[in-house]
Order: sequence, then structure tokens, then C-alpha cells
Amino acid sequence: MKVILAKHHGFCYGVKRAVKIAQDSVSLEGKAYTLGPIIHNPQMVEKLANEGVGMVHSLDDIRQGTVIVRSHGVGPKVYEQAEEKGLTLVDATCPHVKKAQMAAYELSEAGYQVIIVGEKSHPEVKSIFEWSKNRAIIIEHEAELNDIVFFNKVGVVAQTTFSGEEFQKIVDSLIERVENVKVERTICNATEKRQEAAVELANQVDMMIVIGGKNSANTTRLAELCLKKNKHTYHIETVNEINDNWFNKGINTIGITAGASTPDWLIEEVYHKMNQMENFLGDDLKEIQQGDI
Ligand code: F3S
Repeated sequence: MKVILAKHHGFCYGVKRAVKIAQDSVSLEGKAYTLGPIIHNPQMVEKLANEGVGMVHSLDDIRQGTVIVRSHGVGPKVYEQAEEKGLTLVDATCPHVKKAQMAAYELSEAGYQVIIVGEKSHPEVKSIFEWSKNRAIIIEHEAELNDIVFFNKVGVVAQTTFSGEEFQKIVDSLIERVENVKVERTICNATEKRQEAAVELANQVDMMIVIGGKNSANTTRLAELCLKKNKHTYHIETVNEINDNWFNKGINTIGITAGASTPDWLIEEVYHKMNQMENFLGDDLKEIQQGDI
């Protein structure tokens, strides 16, 4: 039996950076708090709390200390409020998200009608909306273009994790409707890379294990995509959820992947459990591929 790790899995650049920034904030004067969970992973949030980094949902909840802006970013008001309250602000906004925020701001300043392509309730999209001076129209599907009365010039910005294919469809449709369209391609390919690698692996193996927060949209999406290719797909948050009954006869290869917000140590725990099962199940399981753990 083989255990194979997806070529691209786990923390993306922006999340890795944000977690490191949060961990380093412990050395600053006063207590540090992330504004909202640093990532959509309850185990990581708990780990940070144990290291001394708290979490608040609003600046109203703190009187002093440091506030850490997570990778999703926030609107300009938070920066202003932090300054008014005399809080130290540590900005862990992912540079790709920052680019999308600035694009929305500049398009709005230049008089463009701004359209954000993304999920309305996603914190990143909300932050991009606020940087557009609360003027942008947020759409998720091409059909929503039918409800918009367009200006002469339209600027389009994408949620960084939006599907490149879907975004292009919307852009093509917009170009047919509006003469002057400025497109800011603010999609980051980390999600796409993880999805492609997961689907490729799900096609090859007998069983897929997808590790990550049940509240993580990108991990849930990975699990959905894998399930389409492989009916033996399980979405787990931690190693404790692995059920020995999954390993029936006929399961000879196991693929592992993890969302962009899943820390390495959770992936390693699952991997080591597989190693233990190898010992338990006998010689068939000797061939373990290390992948890029
Ligand atoms: Fe940044 Fe892309 Fe990750 S936008 S937070 S590197 S998914």
C-alpha cells in the first residue's frame, strides 16, 4: 500500500506569513490579538492562544496592545480606528489581497464603476468592497450581470481565491456589454494549484483523506472536488477522526491533501498514523511515498 501526498497541499504563502507574523507579535509590548481567527483552522487558533496570542472580533473588545490584521485583510476604517485608539496595528494582510484592495481603491478613485467578482459574505471580499469606498458591486455569477446598469467605464477585481475559469467567463460577458472594461487579474494561483493536485491524486488512489477545518471554505471545496473523482474521500480536521474501518480490502493507495489553512503538524500526524497502520496491517503497506511533507 502506498500513501501519497498531493504535490501542492497545506499552508499557502499568505497564510504561512500571517501565522509567522502573529507568532512573532508575542514579543511586542502588551498583549497581541488577531482580529478574527488568524485562519479557518480551530487547532491553529488554539495553538496561537496557548502561545499568548488572543483573538477578538472587534476593536471595541480591546483597550490597549496590538491588533493583528489577518491574511484576508480589512477595510480602511479598521486602520483609522486602531490609530484613534492608540493600538499597535500589525498588518498580516496577504500581499495578493492587498493588491486587490488597492486595485479596487484606485479604480474607484479614477471614476470606474467597480465590480468585485467573489463571494459576498467572504471577509476578503468585504475588505475589497470597503477599499472601493463602499461603491463596488459584488457578483458571484455571470447571470448577475443582467441586473446591473453599467457606467461607461467598468473596472473588475477578483477575490484572490476565485476560480480563474469562472472569472474569465464573467469578464468575457462584461466586454460584450461595456466598451471600456479594465480588468485587474487579482486571482492567486495557490488555491488552483492545490485543487489541481488534489483532483489528479484523487484519480490515481483508492482513498483520499482531505485534512483541514470544517469551517474552511477552501478545504471543503478540495473535499468536494476529490469526492467527485473518488467516492472514498474523507474530510477530517485531525488524526483522531481516522476510522480503521475505512481501510477495507481493495484500498491499496491512499492520497492525502490539505487546505491552504491546514498547518503542517496536522498533516504530519495523519501521515504518521498511516505509518503506524502500515506496521499494524503488515507487509503490504511497506511502500510509503514521502511526497513533500
Ligand atoms: Fe494569499 Fe493566495 Fe493564500 S491570496 S492568503 S497566498 S490563497
